[in-house]
Amino acid sequence: MKSAVVLLAGWLALTAYYVYLPLPSTVSESWYLMMMNAFFRLVQQSCSLAHAMGLDHHARLLNVVVGKLESLSNMPSGHVKITDPVFDGVEVRVYQPFAESQKTLRRSVVYIHGGGWSLLSARGGSYNHLCMVMAESLDAVIVSIDYRLVPDFHFPAQLDDVLRAIKHFLLPDVLAQYSVDPTRIAVSGDSAGGNLAAAACQEISQEENVTNRFKLQALVYPVLQCFDFNTPSYQQNELSPIASRTVIVKFWIDYFDGNYDYAQSMLINNHTSLDVSKASSFRDRLDWTFLLPSRFRKHYKPITQSTGKAEIIQNIPALLDVRAAPLLADKEVLRLQPKTYIMTCEIDVLRDDGLMYAKRLEKAGVEVTVDHFEDCFHGCMLFTIWPINFSSGFHTRDSYLKWLNENL
Ligand SMILES: *[C@@H]1O[C@H](CO)[C@@H](O)[C@H](O)[C@H]1NC(C)=O
Ligand SMILES: *[C@@H]1O[C@H](CO)[C@@H](O)[C@H](O)[C@H]1NC(C)=O
Ligand SMILES: *[C@@H]1O[C@H](CO)[C@@H](O)[C@H](O)[C@H]1NC(C)=O
Repeated sequence: MKSAVVLLAGWLALTAYYVYLPLPSTVSESWYLMMMNAFFRLVQQSCSLAHAMGLDHHARLLNVVVGKLESLSNMPSGHVKITDPVFDGVEVRVYQPFAESQKTLRRSVVYIHGGGWSLLSARGGSYNHLCMVMAESLDAVIVSIDYRLVPDFHFPAQLDDVLRAIKHFLLPDVLAQYSVDPTRIAVSGDSAGGNLAAAACQEISQEENVTNRFKLQALVYPVLQCFDFNTPSYQQNELSPIASRTVIVKFWIDYFDGNYDYAQSMLINNHTSLDVSKASSFRDRLDWTFLLPSRFRKHYKPITQSTGKAEIIQNIPALLDVRAAPLLADKEVLRLQPKTYIMTCEIDVLRDDGLMYAKRLEKAGVEVTVDHFEDCFHGCMLFTIWPINFSSGFHTRDSYLKWLNENL
């Protein structure tokens, strides 16, 4: 009996240790978030264990589990027409509001889903629901792109897919087929989808041969750089829910088909140390001591190593590729970007990626709206469906839709 009590107490203490997360007092529904985060970590760690045992790649396993979980939740249905065409070899899902009158052309959003370039899909429950809500509330045609994923495909396959689908959609006859107004199209995405949206938007803005371009880009807590893993938001939110610093570094390494042995070095910015000459030309473009207002810099100090590991950039040159890290783009390219919306959350390692991009775009003359949520966390906009329904999910989604509705 006594030993049972001791065991139970031990088990409870371990569970509490596993679940407990120091979260700022501002965050809403914090215990619920801790439980969900502990569950995600457990699933993630089980997949890594299965990977180590040689069962399958952890990203593929995790995606299967996530897909199963998504299929369990009870997705509300919407009143939109859904089709699954192929745009120049790339699978997409198109949402069209049911026509009351086809007299007028509709607005449109090209949506690129998140999930670390390796998880989730346009067809899966969460994004399917989001795009349905978007189509209905904006009365717009939504094109959601099912680009190919890690571990079967790596950078730049994801971006290539996105660009192929976009260029196909922007052809005048395709837009006409979907009754889309060529002057009112936005590109948007969240997290890794925000990365792909920003990169695609830069490419399209420089493309000579497209007749139609984007009116807007809307980036939701985007990941935009892999140069500095010690921005104030990375330092402050190192252990944050859903996307901890280590999780993000590993997503980047997987995107580049790199080696996890580099993760520890990258965490302390050894890959972009001062003696790595290839990195030096980019340093100013994410100098947050100057790009971030002091209320976001807080007391944090830059982590810049004088000597590091040059072999990392040699082995993974894509770490400095603007198509992977759109924040590193030249000012001449930034100048060409359309009106921009960037959502950032305080409890997110990626907060400063978004804030720095906003500042650089502004300095290049682009009109930018930063929509910052002090009490929200990375990934929250997707969490609107029971059992993963947070008030922050509804707040952020409403705000995002409001901006699109007013500006598109
Ligand atoms: C633009 O399109 C034309 C006609 O299809 C083609 O001849 C030309 O090479 C293209 N230019 C670029 C830069 O792709
Ligand atoms: C970072 O680079 C320095 C200099 O090469 C090296 O001494 C140190 O061990 C490296 N740290 C990690 C974690 O790679
Ligand atoms: C989440 O869903 C449950 C069940 O429908 C509901 O009781 C709860 O109020 C919801 N929470 C939020 C924040 O919407």
